[in-house]
Amino acid sequence: MGEVDPAFVQSLEHQPKLDIIEAEGIPLIDLSQLINSSDNDSSLASLVSKVGDACKNWGFFQVINHGVPLKYREKIELAERKFFALSKEEKKKVSRGEANPLGYYDTEHTKNVRDWKEVFDFTVMNPTIVPASHVPEDKELREWVNRWPQYPPELREACEAYAAEMEKLAYKLLELIALSLGLPRTRLNGFFKEHTSFIRLNHYPVCPVPELVLGVGRHKDAGALTILAQDDVGGLEVKRKTDGEWVFVKPTPNAYIINVGDIIQVWSNDKYESVEHRVMVNSRKERFSIPFFLNPAHFTWVEPLEELTNKENPKYKAYNWGKFFVTRKLSNFKKLDVENIQIYHFRI
Ligand code: OGA
Ligand code: NI
Repeated sequence: MGEVDPAFVQSLEHQPKLDIIEAEGIPLIDLSQLINSSDNDSSLASLVSKVGDACKNWGFFQVINHGVPLKYREKIELAERKFFALSKEEKKKVSRGEANPLGYYDTEHTKNVRDWKEVFDFTVMNPTIVPASHVPEDKELREWVNRWPQYPPELREACEAYAAEMEKLAYKLLELIALSLGLPRTRLNGFFKEHTSFIRLNHYPVCPVPELVLGVGRHKDAGALTILAQDDVGGLEVKRKTDGEWVFVKPTPNAYIINVGDIIQVWSNDKYESVEHRVMVNSRKERFSIPFFLNPAHFTWVEPLEELTNKENPKYKAYNWGKFFVTRKLSNFKKLDVENIQIYHFRI
């Protein structure tokens, strides 16, 4: 066993068990009905109820027949492999910084422990407008601009084409989720006109001590929802709501894994929970994954939707998404002495 930098080592209670539990139960939902359905169609109603059950019981589901042509995924996955195969020196030419956190990065922390991974981030809107700082009183805005490496030259186009497909799928999912909450189909769409969504290329290198570290430490996704493409290696684990066990999400070819993020938890006033998940690494195989994080416009005030708080009181006070987002980015960028920002800080 090689020496491993203690910055990566998880505390005992968070070290992964290598004898994994496979999640038979994560619902697999076939979206093919969506193509020919209208609002009052009974097949749409059954799809909506499957999505609602999955959001309530797991916070996670997989989708097949989602309408994203395979070629977009193949192109981005190939370009991703070529990029991460470059030398560190070459990759660092597009390093992310504190002011513009887009591009390459290999020292991300989750809950102040270093992740065993390297990433490349880009936003779907270019530029993306965000607050200039996390300080609440500071009203200044800033533009984040995507940075593209010289090699492989096809990366940019592959990423942009993939992002356009993810956006289309995200709206379909958002509409299903709105319907499943008893809301009009497009109730949530307006929050995303000037969205801050981003895509992350993740590379989890082979690791000599997979029992001590995590590719991504336990966390909940802060945005509205996440659409994840994982390769055939596997490593994603989801915290099962019924018993708190970590269960392994078995890779399904050409499926996407969808999870509810913190914002949907708040909008739904806790009807749907954003569920904790983490990534195990592997001593034999490197792994690649590509999450798309659907995030609203920076000026969005996130709070429980009025329609869903009629009978009970709202469980959260409103928070500004842009400030939340840049605060979180900062805490992932460097090790802080305090816990990073979480939605429960806004609980009433
Ligand atoms: C994330 C994440 C899962 C994976 O980046 O937020 O949960 O399988 N990734 O890479
Ligand atoms: Ni995540």
